[in-house]
Amino acid sequence: MQRHDVVVVGAGLAGQRAALAALQAGRDVAIVSKLHPLRSHSGAAQGGINAAVGKEDSVETHIYDTVKGSDYLGDQDAIEFFCKEAGPTVVEMEHFGTIFSRADDGSLARRPFGGAGFPRTIYAADRTGLALLQALWEHLGQENLTLYEEWDLTRIVVDEGRAQGIVAFDRRRGDLAQIAAKAVVIATGPAGRIYGRTTNAHSCTGDGVAAAYRAGAFLKDMEFVQFHPTALLESSILITEGARGEGGILKNAKGERFMSRYAPHVLDLASRDVVSRAIFTEVREGRGFPGDYVHLELMHLGRERIESRLQEICDFSRNFAGIDPVTEPIPVMPAQHYMMGGISTNARGETNIPGLFAAGEAACVSIHGANRLGGNSLLETLVFGKQAGIAAAAYAEGAPTPVLRADDLDRETTAVRAMGDRTEGEEPQHLRIEMQRTMDTLVGIYRNAAELKQALAQIVALKVRYEKVRVVDRAKTYNINLTDALETGHMLALAEVIVAGAIARTESRGAHARTDFPKRDDANWMKHTLAAYSPQGPRLSYGPVAYTRWEPKERVY
Ligand code: FUM
Repeated sequence: MQRHDVVVVGAGLAGQRAALAALQAGRDVAIVSKLHPLRSHSGAAQGGINAAVGKEDSVETHIYDTVKGSDYLGDQDAIEFFCKEAGPTVVEMEHFGTIFSRADDGSLARRPFGGAGFPRTIYAADRTGLALLQALWEHLGQENLTLYEEWDLTRIVVDEGRAQGIVAFDRRRGDLAQIAAKAVVIATGPAGRIYGRTTNAHSCTGDGVAAAYRAGAFLKDMEFVQFHPTALLESSILITEGARGEGGILKNAKGERFMSRYAPHVLDLASRDVVSRAIFTEVREGRGFPGDYVHLELMHLGRERIESRLQEICDFSRNFAGIDPVTEPIPVMPAQHYMMGGISTNARGETNIPGLFAAGEAACVSIHGANRLGGNSLLETLVFGKQAGIAAAAYAEGAPTPVLRADDLDRETTAVRAMGDRTEGEEPQHLRIEMQRTMDTLVGIYRNAAELKQALAQIVALKVRYEKVRVVDRAKTYNINLTDALETGHMLALAEVIVAGAIARTESRGAHARTDFPKRDDANWMKHTLAAYSPQGPRLSYGPVAYTRWEPKERVY
């Protein structure tokens, strides 16, 4: 059995930053990842990273925009810390070698993003996540890190009230193994593949969030699911908000710049929940194009600007939709993009389980509340990844030697083998597709009690069918059918939490828009949802939102 002081699960920006901090604190650190670190979904983040670095901008405005964007559900103390850390974080990443785009005077170029009072999104063309990921990975290469690559997390071991390590499936060897750790950091990123229409990569299946939930960690605010306004029609590939930041405009089939009806002051650069609802409404009310979409027009920006600042979305539009954004509008519709909810942590990444930490999209601090601002996600991975790494290292220094029991591994092995030994039952992809259809149609941008209850019944039925899930591929190594089965189990558990939280929250706030409860209800719902695992389904309770200075107001853009 392998042993480390700190095991980080997930090799994206949050995981790498946590590992770096724990290594620099002198701990023995390993990263466990199902992908090569440079293939992590952080690399798909296009538009940029927020930091108030110019003379005209201020940390204070960044804090206010984030609080307002969260529809007053974000914890204001954590948001203050987060925004103050933004400048030093971007400078550190530049010193690690990130090649950011430059303004004419050589300073860091900044573009406007939705819901921001100032152009504060720093970028590397439209490949910002990839630029950060490459720089951080190269920097981490100077440290003595152990990497377990192509391992699927199956369980977080909690014994005697604290995390003791993990169990994971090594795809290359085709077997399960235990890794003992004094501290475990979950940084497994998004769970967007719960939906069919998503900008998330196929690997984004919420493995660490589901494992933490089963291990006894609280999940927070899972009902808040972000839909990005502009995903390429059919493939749902992200078309960055940076396109609107550069001056791109949305139009309906009547040629109207329809955002003037929904956000008269900032138009296309309202926050994501507002723009997604606007597009959805235009289409629902018959002003979309046949096939249900709207246009994102960039043509007026000119070839030079489009091809230099938005290279990646040019490639995506040309290769996946057969259209050239220099001469034609891009057909777009909203798609699932980000989970505001996740493993409940404080700003140090600590969960309710001693020795278990989380950071990045897998975690919920909460700084995004009911709606995240574009550009705050890359920042979150780095700011809170570092904090989780520091806290995990400090915890591990004084923690007892972890103990993992052989019968734990045997039980896990028996459960995994049973999937392959079954001669009856359903293959995971059928269950996954039904789950995605349920979430797309019944738990989308607009929600109501009847559809949510129908969704819950369908997800619970899928969970029952999952108990007989069958892996037909007999391959010992690189058995993708088995990976699919493990991931589908994780996603079904999380889908149930999302829907249960959405049914319970009888108000509209940020990305959670209930047609049967269209108003925000601060008197009853200014609180975080906490979900605890039980075999019968999630048990919900509620926790307070932290206030410092910002009184809740009506959100107008
Ligand atoms: O639109 C985008 O480039 C996405 C950025 C983000 O989610 O922060």
